[in-house]
Amino acid sequence: MINTNEVCDSLIKNGWYSGSNIFDRNFVQEAVKEFNSKDLKEAGIGATAIRQESIRNDEIYWFEPEHNSVIENKYIEAINRLKSSLNESLYLGLNGHEVHYAKYEKGGFYKPHLDNVKGKNNRVLTIITYLNENWKKEDGGVLKLHLENEVKEIEPKAGNVVIFLSEKVLHEVAPSNKTRQSLTGWLLHK
Ligand code: OGA
Ligand code: NI
Repeated sequence: MINTNEVCDSLIKNGWYSGSNIFDRNFVQEAVKEFNSKDLKEAGIGATAIRQESIRNDEIYWFEPEHNSVIENKYIEAINRLKSSLNESLYLGLNGHEVHYAKYEKGGFYKPHLDNVKGKNNRVLTIITYLNENWKKEDGGVLKLHLENEVKEIEPKAGNVVIFLSEKVLHEVAPSNKTRQSLTGWLLHK
């Protein structure tokens, strides 16, 4: 479970939050099983979604209500709970969300970037849940948050969650040495 008080405090203080074992093994395994079987699309950059393999080379699968997926709905419920409590305590006026499953194959990366889509700019918070069991240091693929005075590294271990201000925190995915899976979403102010 996401501890929303902890998330609020950390976002106010630092502009980012990370926690481990937020989602349990059962959820992680169900998610991997479901999304592994999907027809993934090569991820693009910006509003026109042009594929630029020099910047990112992951593949994604967007959540859609029409999928009527138990696992998607479970995750969206958690996202919506977080959205409501952030609105109550931080008055963020969050009124939308978008979520996709992402998969980086061996050698995958995402160069330093901010998460706003040019001409849209409606992403307020980025929330990522990692799905990689038995992830080891040598597997690479860390998320690097480029903060004012340090670079914070977050390992993409199963159940880990990271949340940060989409337009403020420059971040990147370091090259991954094996398949790396996550659920990446944004809380929006439309
Ligand atoms: C993104 C992103 C980071 C990660 O999809 O915009 O920065 O750790 N992902 O998967
Ligand atoms: Ni990003």
